[in-house]
Amino acid sequence: MGRVQHGEMPQRPPAGQIEIRRLETAELRAHLDGLAAVLADCVAGGASVSYMAPFSHEDARVAFEGMAAEAERGRRLLLAAFDEGRVIGTVQVILALPPNQPHRGEIAKLLVHRSARGQGVAQLLMERAETEARAEGKTLLVLDAVTGGDAERLYTRLGWTKVGVIPDYALYPDGRPCATTFFFKALDR
Ligand SMILES: CC(C)(COP(=O)(O)OP(=O)(O)OC[C@H]1O[C@@H](n2cnc3c(N)ncnc32)[C@H](O)[C@@H]1OP(=O)(O)O)[C@@H](O)C(=O)NCCC(=O)NCCS
Repeated sequence: MGRVQHGEMPQRPPAGQIEIRRLETAELRAHLDGLAAVLADCVAGGASVSYMAPFSHEDARVAFEGMAAEAERGRRLLLAAFDEGRVIGTVQVILALPPNQPHRGEIAKLLVHRSARGQGVAQLLMERAETEARAEGKTLLVLDAVTGGDAERLYTRLGWTKVGVIPDYALYPDGRPCATTFFFKALDR
């Protein structure tokens, strides 16, 4: 297991030290605990990202094992942000969509550990996700975010187009309902 575990994180790194890498096969498996630590921390912080409380590190690891299996089959790609070898953030692009939407991808699980927020890690992850998606032949990306949350501001800042809001679309980890805003972005060919 890496140095990142169970929500414990060291000092915030300067943005210049952050490295974004696409994780595949062995490297992805090697960082499952680091990825799980970021997911568990986000859920503990109240993020509405599919999972309900209580949500343990083991729960998060199981979730990432499933997503890693999808990545290994080429159905999604997974990026991670590192500070000196520690995972501090992650994002995925879902590539496998119905046959009539081969040009479309979906952004999923943009997660930054609470101790690493507010220094551009998510922006770096999103910029790289767009680059990787374009390299996979995608020309249209979609995503959704909790209405009024930090992510919605980020996506607006990064040039995504807001489609609309669906009230009570999902739940926060504590069971409260939350509205969701849907976005799209056309990528340059
Ligand atoms: C949403 C989320 C991914 C943002 O991650 P982040 O790394 O903090 O995002 P950024 O650092 O790129 O941007 C956050 C803020 O820091 C600011 N910022 C970025 N770099 C900065 C810097 N060097 N100095 C000062 N501020 C900076 C940004 O302008 C932004 O400001 P805003 O909140 O006023 O809009 C993170 O809050 C998170 O993981 N939340 C929980 C999970 C979640 O909701 N995921 C989204 C699912 S759709």
